[in-house]
Amino acid sequence: MTFNDKVIYQIYPKSFLDTNGDGIGDLLGITSKIPYLADLGIDMIWLNPIYPSPQHDNGYDISDYKAIDPIFGSFADFDEMIRVGKKYHIEFMLDMVLNHVSTEHEWFQKALAGDKYYQDFFIIRDQPNDWLSKFGGSAWAPFGETGKYYLHLYETTQADLNWRNENVRRELIDVVNFWRAKGISGFRFDVINVIGKDQQLLDNPVDGGKSEYTDKPIVHDYLQMLNQSTFGQDNSSITVGEMSSTTIENSILYTRPDRHELSMVFSFYHLKTDYENGDKWTKMTPDFAKLRDILHVWGKKMSDGKGWNALFWTNHDQPRALSRFVDTDHFRVKGATMLAASEHLSRGTPFVYMGEEIGMVNPDYQSIEDFEDIEAINAYKMLLKSGKSETEALQILQEKARDNSRSPMQWDSSKNSGFCTGKPWIALGNHPDINVASEKNGEIYSFYKKLIQLRKDQEIISKGSYIPAFEDSDSIYAFIRSLGKEKLLVLNNFKDQAVSFKTPQEFNKADILISNYDNYIPGYLQPYQSIALILK
Ligand code: NOJ
Repeated sequence: MTFNDKVIYQIYPKSFLDTNGDGIGDLLGITSKIPYLADLGIDMIWLNPIYPSPQHDNGYDISDYKAIDPIFGSFADFDEMIRVGKKYHIEFMLDMVLNHVSTEHEWFQKALAGDKYYQDFFIIRDQPNDWLSKFGGSAWAPFGETGKYYLHLYETTQADLNWRNENVRRELIDVVNFWRAKGISGFRFDVINVIGKDQQLLDNPVDGGKSEYTDKPIVHDYLQMLNQSTFGQDNSSITVGEMSSTTIENSILYTRPDRHELSMVFSFYHLKTDYENGDKWTKMTPDFAKLRDILHVWGKKMSDGKGWNALFWTNHDQPRALSRFVDTDHFRVKGATMLAASEHLSRGTPFVYMGEEIGMVNPDYQSIEDFEDIEAINAYKMLLKSGKSETEALQILQEKARDNSRSPMQWDSSKNSGFCTGKPWIALGNHPDINVASEKNGEIYSFYKKLIQLRKDQEIISKGSYIPAFEDSDSIYAFIRSLGKEKLLVLNNFKDQAVSFKTPQEFNKADILISNYDNYIPGYLQPYQSIALILK
């Protein structure tokens, strides 16, 4: 499958639709909504982890790679989901968390029990080095009663796997092939650029160890090997690597077709533009100039270097972009459609995060009790300790916590917004009026549909190169796509104020391909207006 004209929809399974009343979304819920997603026009659904897990990190702590957690359903439900998907020409992408396993995984348990073969599956040392866990504190925890320590770059119960061990690699290849045989053609590889730790495990007081384990050259070898022994054997596979603190140069190498590594990468710099002094747990208006520059640099360099970006504004680790970048009290609809245009008309593969197509906003949880994520709870404690009041700490969580995008999908105006009949595992948001029933024929949903279709109809969108435009503008994020004789100028006003600009002369006679306002006055953009001008 070529993937340039495809659009992927991300489902956070726990929060999509519950059909058995246990308050947790399930596979049957997903299957029942395939016709809805087919109407939207998407090609593939990415599911966050659905494997057995103690759920310390919501499924990213896997205890069995080759099974389905009963909270989500059975293999029969899974097969049915794939079958219905095929009927509607929708394929599935599974989350492959191959950097670490849960400490409840059989491999870790055997290692703890003294089995040397399995001890070699992990990174175990007599003494910890100074590396920091991404979830706070040291990246090392005591390995049972042995007096030794094991590495966990994430939560304590997520033990990093030793990719240098050939037996580990063989097991992981087997995992990917297991799911291929079950009809899976898409794979999202979790934090895949940190699998190749430097062998020496040296201290690094400057960056908490990041440069010792991120983007090491050996990651490229591992990906080529994985590609060759698994998904690279299917013409139709689509893969995306989640890249932690990566570089553009490496991202080009990860995705350039002749390298046979991955189809595309997720990077996150554009979503750190509201981190005050680099600190996520702060309240800050996004820095537009920084955002614009990051999008331009990544857009252009990836285009010039023949790499490929995964395009997204929101995922399960981010607050909802609409609440982040837009004055939703006054411009929710125009803001949602502007963000959509700025993503879907760009170069790369767009990902729609569940609820984005109806303009869902952050849940605005009013109490710390509403938050479920371990990261948010740790951050709340840390903020109080640093002297913030409970109200201030809560306000920061309301803007930054990952739970902001994990609140349940809102289907209609019935109890729990139609998500479940029982007690939901996580609180519903405080904006029940925004739901599929009320938005399905509305402006945002229809605009998404149009954008998804346009990518299929217009090669300039799926294949054109990316050239930055209006690079100094304080309000407009603009770029030109170019393919053969055709050119497409895309202008997006990120501000709640109208703005004027000078249309580049060559576009004076261009046609409007799409706009989120009914009228367009040349040289003038209304608040959050997007317009795409095409020159044939
Ligand atoms: C990235 C995932 O998206 C996130 O949810 C998870 O906590 C970490 N990787 C660790 O697996």
